[in-house]
Amino acid sequence: MEMIHTASLMHDDVVDNAPTRRGKPSANAKWGNALSVLVGDYFWCKACEIIVQHGDFRLLKVVTDTITGTTEGEVLELTQSNDVGINEEEYLKIVRHKTAVLLSACCHAGAVLGKVSEMLETALRRFGLDLGIAFQLSDDVLDYVSEEERFGKTRGSDLREGKLTLPLIVALKRCTDPERAIIKDALLSTELSEVQLGKIIELLDKYEGIDYTRKLARDYAERAKSHLKPFKPSIEKDALLALADYVTSREE
Ligand code: IPE
Ligand code: MG
Ligand code: MG
Repeated sequence: MEMIHTASLMHDDVVDNAPTRRGKPSANAKWGNALSVLVGDYFWCKACEIIVQHGDFRLLKVVTDTITGTTEGEVLELTQSNDVGINEEEYLKIVRHKTAVLLSACCHAGAVLGKVSEMLETALRRFGLDLGIAFQLSDDVLDYVSEEERFGKTRGSDLREGKLTLPLIVALKRCTDPERAIIKDALLSTELSEVQLGKIIELLDKYEGIDYTRKLARDYAERAKSHLKPFKPSIEKDALLALADYVTSREE
C-alpha cells in the first residue's frame, strides 16, 4: 500500500507541477517528469507483483480497484480544474476517488488478511473511506492556513494549480459578483501574487469557507469512528479511533 501511495504521489506531483513534497524537493523537481512517471509506474506494478506472489486474489482486487479509483479521481479533478461552477457534491466525488479510496483499501486489505466477517470487512472499508474524506478536507484547509515549514507544501498551491477545493467553493457560492471576479482572476492567473492570495484568504474568512470545511472534516471523522462500533475494545481499535481524531487536528 505504501508503494501504491508513493506511486500516486509521484504521478500527482507531475500532474500538479508541484515543486515540493513533504518539505523536500519533489521527485519531478529533482529528477524530471519522465523519471517520476516511470518510477511511479514501476511502483504500481511492483506492488501488484508482491500481492500476486502472496496469491490472494481478493487482496489483488482491493489493490487494483484502488489504482483505478485514484486514477479516475485524478482525471476527474483535472477535467474540472479552473471550473468555478464546481459544487460540493462534485468536489466530494473527486475526494472520494483520489484520496479516500486509498485509505479505504488499506483498511479493507487488513480486513481481508485478518479474515474477519463480511460485516466487519464492510465496517473497516467504510471507516477508511470516511477517514480519507476527513483527511483530504483537512488537507484542503491546511493548503490555505498552514505554516509551510510544518505542512511541507507551498501555501496556496491548490489555487495556483487552478484547483477549486471546498473552502473556495463555499466562498464562491456566498460572495458578491465583484468578489467572484477576484476569485476567478486569482484562479486563472499564471503567477499568483501574495496580495492576491491574501485577498482570497480574506474572502475565505469572511464567508466561513475554512470553518465550514473544518466542520465537515470533523463530521466525516466522527462518522468514520462510528463504523468501528461493532469491534470489541482493543489497542488496535484505539489506534484507529485516535487516527480519526488526528486527521482533523493536524497542526497548522
Ligand atoms: C494527491 O492529491 C492525492 C493523490 C491522488 C495522489 P492532491 O494533489 O490534492 O494532494 P497534494 O496536495 O499534492 O498532496
Ligand atoms: Mg498534488
Ligand atoms: Mg493533485
